[in-house]
Amino acid sequence: MMTEYAIIPQPQSIQYRQGSFQCTGIPRIAAGDQDFHSEAQVFTGQIAKTFGNPNGAEHIHLLKTDSPAGAEAYRLEITGKEIRISAAGGTGAFRGLQVLRQLILSGYHDGELVIPCGIIEDAPRFSWRGLMLDSSRNFFSVEFIKKLLDALSLQHINIFHWHLTDDQGWRFPVKQYPLLTEIGSKRYDNRIYRYVGGFYTETEIRDIVSYAAERHIEVVPEVDLPGHASAILAAYPGLGCTGGPYRVEDRCGIFEDVLCAGNDDIFPLAEAVFDTLAELFPSAYVHIGGDEVRFNHWKKCPKCQKRLADLGLSEPPQLQSWITSRLAEMLRKRGKAAIGWDEILENTELFPLPDDVIVQSWRGEGGGSKAAALGRRVIMSPQTNGCYLDYRHADLPDEIGRLGIGTITQGFNLNPVTPEMDEKAALLVLGGQGNCWAENIYAGKIAEYMIFPRICAIGEALWSARKDRDINEFAKRLTVHQNRLDKLDLLQYRGPL
Ligand code: ACM
Ligand code: ZN
Repeated sequence: MMTEYAIIPQPQSIQYRQGSFQCTGIPRIAAGDQDFHSEAQVFTGQIAKTFGNPNGAEHIHLLKTDSPAGAEAYRLEITGKEIRISAAGGTGAFRGLQVLRQLILSGYHDGELVIPCGIIEDAPRFSWRGLMLDSSRNFFSVEFIKKLLDALSLQHINIFHWHLTDDQGWRFPVKQYPLLTEIGSKRYDNRIYRYVGGFYTETEIRDIVSYAAERHIEVVPEVDLPGHASAILAAYPGLGCTGGPYRVEDRCGIFEDVLCAGNDDIFPLAEAVFDTLAELFPSAYVHIGGDEVRFNHWKKCPKCQKRLADLGLSEPPQLQSWITSRLAEMLRKRGKAAIGWDEILENTELFPLPDDVIVQSWRGEGGGSKAAALGRRVIMSPQTNGCYLDYRHADLPDEIGRLGIGTITQGFNLNPVTPEMDEKAALLVLGGQGNCWAENIYAGKIAEYMIFPRICAIGEALWSARKDRDINEFAKRLTVHQNRLDKLDLLQYRGPL
């Protein structure tokens, strides 16, 4: 029988009380509690997926209250007779229900639920707690993404950053540019001798966005521009500096072919893409990529040279900052803010990074520190510090992954506020993310192994207060928590932390 809750992420405060709540079957939410109807339905559906429909008495009560007041704050009280979750809004109520879901996953055995009595009071440290999934390098099914969202919600992950375009595939339809999907969504795979790929239809995207929203997860789409553009160029070769030939890549790497900065036609394409995203994604953010742009063609291309001269720029890389400003402006007109990888901080002498653009730090934490010093908002996801979920879990010969090692301990110790940041800069840090790139991840099952349980450690780093952080204490909770995740049918890494 459990004596401690072993919740991940660690709540702000837990006070244990004498005794325990006991119930035959899994208790149901009282039918009269209508304030959080949608949250109650989702919770009940999640429980039903694991255990079948709850058939215990109506012992769970959801109460709309003034305090705790934060959007994600909740209070969960477990007495000998009932379970009460109070929150000011639906998000807080849902977070509280996910903690209760954890307690049911670990406390329900042989038809009986037993949970120690106590009071949990909780609220997050950061408002941005994300997971990025690369659906370009591998086309993950809608079914898998829903399973993932359900699992992520258990740890209060609240951002699903969806990497939808890259050299290896374009994954959503844009009406005015049909070849983006007709050509750009398929690639020949030399390992299995056939075309692979796919794209998400408008209906599927709306379905995923609303499935996520019901779980209080925001979906932030990414369209990587102006580099990582082979799929765009294969579809519309006129948009490149050389005219091609281009192909949707089946290789890994960084490619020389990028959108031509001197070609005015790249902007109507961006407008059409952003119109499509604005229609499908309610998020206030669109990620515009901006990483790993190769400038060699821009150095030689007559159109790019003319653009440089017209803008009074001296170096081809400066064209990227001009493109970033234009894309950010287009998004601003649609009521959205642009996010870009930390390269967007560079070559900005003549076209400074617009105030509203958010920097996602990935090549370490330096980009985040620099962006905050410049007054820009920051998302931390350093590849050097446990946030790259395509990296191997451990330096062991049989571990899956590539490029580097990203341990659970690194993720757990992640602090998105760096020593370089003063108080004002620290306030610009929205939070952080784990990024699951998929060059080597060709199936959802492998993605599960790469994501879990690392995202639990990152989630704790982003949700929980920094005081008393102890990896050995976390390890004990993690053992309990991984048994919960087993019940969600997730493949998990279980080696050294
Ligand atoms: C990145 O990993 N290229 C953002
Ligand atoms: Zn060019």
